[in-house]
Amino acid sequence: MDMEPTSAVRMQAMRDPANPAAYESLLQSWWNGDRLAAARQGLRRHILAPNDPRGLANALSCLNVLDRASSIPNWIPRAPEAVPPAKRFDVDLPPLVDVYHRLLEETNRRRTEAWTPSSIEVSKFSIPLTVEHLANFRRSEVSSGTQTVPDCPIDFARLDFSTFYPDVTEADLKVWRPILSTTRGGLFRRLHKAVAEDPKNTPLSRTLNVADALILDDDRFGARVFDIPGIGTVTAKSLQSTYYACRLSGLVPENGSVLEVGGGFGAAASRLLRIRPDVVYMLTDLPVNLILTYAYLRSHFGEQVYGAFEGPIRPPEGCRVIVIPPWRLGEFKGRASVVFNSMSFQHMDARNHRFYGDVMRHFQARKLYHLNREVISPGDKTVHIPASRYSFNDQFKIVREMVFDDRWVETVAERKTDAG
Ligand SMILES: C[S@@+](CC[C@H](N)C(=O)[O-])C[C@H]1O[C@@H](n2cnc3c(N)ncnc32)[C@H](O)[C@@H]1O
Repeated sequence: MDMEPTSAVRMQAMRDPANPAAYESLLQSWWNGDRLAAARQGLRRHILAPNDPRGLANALSCLNVLDRASSIPNWIPRAPEAVPPAKRFDVDLPPLVDVYHRLLEETNRRRTEAWTPSSIEVSKFSIPLTVEHLANFRRSEVSSGTQTVPDCPIDFARLDFSTFYPDVTEADLKVWRPILSTTRGGLFRRLHKAVAEDPKNTPLSRTLNVADALILDDDRFGARVFDIPGIGTVTAKSLQSTYYACRLSGLVPENGSVLEVGGGFGAAASRLLRIRPDVVYMLTDLPVNLILTYAYLRSHFGEQVYGAFEGPIRPPEGCRVIVIPPWRLGEFKGRASVVFNSMSFQHMDARNHRFYGDVMRHFQARKLYHLNREVISPGDKTVHIPASRYSFNDQFKIVREMVFDDRWVETVAERKTDAG
């Protein structure tokens, strides 16, 4: 029986998926309709020719087009691998609230300095942090701006400190389980892409196994976690910060260091440090976030976390995390293998960018890794400057750029040799 040409090509490719010529023909034919068959074929190619990243990349693209991104993690062959579990240390919160108030006073004294909040972040001058809100900051507007839906409910009044976010309901779970599962699939797809493009990266199966362990979120500090059968409890934040931690892990050299600007409450740091015990992680942010970050990371790493808030800066022996106010960065003699920022440079103005550009020079940042908005929608007052126009870009040479959802750009850049 005569077969129509597409089927003939597909049959050939299915019989011999390791044969690049057959596979190339399949690529041309899949647009004729049967994407699921093409996805299966891509997966076969990946199993038979694992060093060729195209097979899996094409399989995952097909699943994405088919709106089946949530099943992507099940399509990627891998072997189980242990990741150190998240630890829990007690944190003494009342003294931290006192430190916060002193940091806020200091911020007000320094109101004219170039690091101070842009118009978008100006509410951070007046966040009323209490011990109760710190203990439950992931259910409170004190973490405003660092959490998105569904971690904070879509209809909760912004900057309402009189109450806390409500518990996750069965109705929330019904809505958010499929969405968060799809987010997890997208995360795996993007990690695959990043790993496939850089041969120096950790092998894919390890990266993805690590990701599956890191995406879990426990309920510390009152997090609204979403239980996904077969996976565990996650949040939008745990998924997003897992992506950053896995990407950072491929960028920071052994025994290297990260300086994160505007880390929110340290979600990416907590994950990177679990898989990279050799790394020292420095974080700077506005006062309320400095305290959330310090409390959150102390709860994970105990005494290994140092707050350079007041007095002489003397990180203790064995310290792995240094939380430092922006106005003290200049007096700190640190070096950063990577400066990292996610969705925070976008809220800063040109004056802030110049300040952090000087910080990058001071820390002799070898690499810059950031994900920020490039496309600003008309009337959007939450973004100041497109990512391609940050003033510190001239210190770096872009080595990799990936566009996210047509609006964000993820950039990996290396210091130019003549950039000081
Ligand atoms: C949208 S949140 C992003 C948090 C985190 N990076 C993430 O991806 O989830 C913006 C962060 O940038 C911080 N930020 C804004 N302006 C800043 C400034 N001038 N200096 C330091 N941090 C700043 C905010 O306090 C907040 O932690």
